[in-house]
Amino acid sequence: MQRFVLSHPYLLSSEDLSVEDVSLIFERTRFFENNSSKKDVYDDLKGYTVALAFFEPSTRTKFSFELATKRLGGECISFSTTSSSMTKGESLIDTLHTLEAMDVQIFIVRHSASGVPLLLQRNTSKIIVNAGDGRHEHPTQALLDSYTIFKHFGYLENLKVAIVGDLLHSRVARSNYLLLKKLGALVGLCGPGTLLPKFHNSWNVTVFSDIDKVIEWADAIILLRLQNERMASGLVPSVSEFAKFFGLTYERISRKPELVVLHPGPVNYGIELEYEVANLPNVLIQTQVTHGVYVRMALLSLLAKTYEFRRLR
Ligand code: CP
Repeated sequence: MQRFVLSHPYLLSSEDLSVEDVSLIFERTRFFENNSSKKDVYDDLKGYTVALAFFEPSTRTKFSFELATKRLGGECISFSTTSSSMTKGESLIDTLHTLEAMDVQIFIVRHSASGVPLLLQRNTSKIIVNAGDGRHEHPTQALLDSYTIFKHFGYLENLKVAIVGDLLHSRVARSNYLLLKKLGALVGLCGPGTLLPKFHNSWNVTVFSDIDKVIEWADAIILLRLQNERMASGLVPSVSEFAKFFGLTYERISRKPELVVLHPGPVNYGIELEYEVANLPNVLIQTQVTHGVYVRMALLSLLAKTYEFRRLR
């Protein structure tokens, strides 16, 4: 029987997604992408209110979730810590219950502390979506990255995908690693030894300490910025040295122009990516942003269906 709902009515981690879930999300994403001119005809979220609870800055994730909600006929409210009653001592859980009492059904949460989306999910029967928690996970970024790579190559099985840069502090790296492995890709990691997560030994990945070797190996690379906001001092000798050994320059990519390049953004030009590289045809950074809206439309639509299905059972 064809499945039409997801395994869970929430998304906290790439681990929550089965291969069938990802197929379902990609199929719905393709539908929205192929019908992108019909922006105002969907009612998948009619009657739903989505709260954007971003406790950390965001451009891509926040606005794409807002657009996705509106294009699916849902209502969207934006929650700000500085203007909410959390400044008067209200707890996160009480805030969640307050918004639930106003009939908010979907919470998109970004927080600097790992585990906050899980904590909220344990205290509600509503839908929680992790939009990035500390250095833990960013599963919707992984979905849109995998969708972008899959769409470019037509397959993921045995495709060599390298994640390059500050792997230690990156929630994107962890979510991408988990999802890409699940979808059959071969994953390589490349970064300074001080910015490799301790558990990479158990990850069954190829580790490179040299960007030229990783370029030779990979079909696609995902570049990551240095996450200075999460970094203790002294992990890299200097930004210019990081750029010299791990930055993707025009000269380096010229040796393999077919290499596909992704970056979750925001990009720090001149560090992990030379400005001249950004407009090459195989650099898919803007495509990732465009796909972000369709992937999030697909996810929200399927989460709402899954939630309804479980309520009626
Ligand atoms: N990729 C990503 O999470 O970007 P934002 O921080 O702009 O949302």
